[in-house]
Amino acid sequence: MAEKIKLINDDGLRTDGRKPDELRPIRIEAGVLANADGSAYLEWGANKVLVAVYGPREAQPKYLQDPMKAIVQVNYNMAAFSSEERVRPGPNRRATEISKITAEALENVIITNNFPRASIDVFIEVLEADAGTRCAGLTAAAVAVADAGIPMTDLVAACAVGKADGQLLLDLGKKEDNFGEADMPIGIAPRTGDIVLLQMDGDMTQEEMRKALRMGMDASRKIHELQTDALRRRYAVNFADMDDGEAVQ
Ligand code: CDP
Repeated sequence: MAEKIKLINDDGLRTDGRKPDELRPIRIEAGVLANADGSAYLEWGANKVLVAVYGPREAQPKYLQDPMKAIVQVNYNMAAFSSEERVRPGPNRRATEISKITAEALENVIITNNFPRASIDVFIEVLEADAGTRCAGLTAAAVAVADAGIPMTDLVAACAVGKADGQLLLDLGKKEDNFGEADMPIGIAPRTGDIVLLQMDGDMTQEEMRKALRMGMDASRKIHELQTDALRRRYAVNFADMDDGEAVQ
């Protein structure tokens, strides 16, 4: 049983000073790696995540190939130095689970039918972790896939909604994640509003769950703006390079 600590103060503010429906600061850059087909770097509060995308390329080994569509393979990895305690290198149950749900979320928006027998490989490296890395990774991965020029019906913007001290909170921080009553990561395709990732740890009533989904939807719109802005900035720089080498601000 986790120890009880106060996560909301008498003014209704959280331990890091945020309001219940406030996101941590998010910064996204697209196209940060020269050797990948697509890439993105994202800072979300104290989380730092780097994503590289390769493909579509021939799926290897061949038995993995789907004659009808591309497969999406995700490798989520926490760097050994990403947490206060050293993270053991290599795959583990949690990384395998996060890789799987991230791939399934991306399959909803990537037009995989265009690339039979191919693989789209997504590498998510968590450089610093501070709760919410699966949502940060998925949000950055969607930008990196778009940056690779892979056709998509939509991006995916993800954010966790949880509960602490009996109150719904957007974008759980580390203490809220550790000591709160519920954690519900939500991934949304912002254009259609389709939910492409939904997990739940802890307890919520049906009414709380409805409200949490609405909070997640609102957040996904804000995150989507940051994603499209990162992609726009990326292409603005490229056009400027073609003109006179000066970046357009
Ligand atoms: O990161 P996310 O919230 O999606 O997943 P989690 O399994 O709920 O983990 C919550 C947080 O615990 C992570 O974001 C990390 O800050 C931390 N964690 C860690 O420090 N070392 C691990 N091996 C796993 C998680």
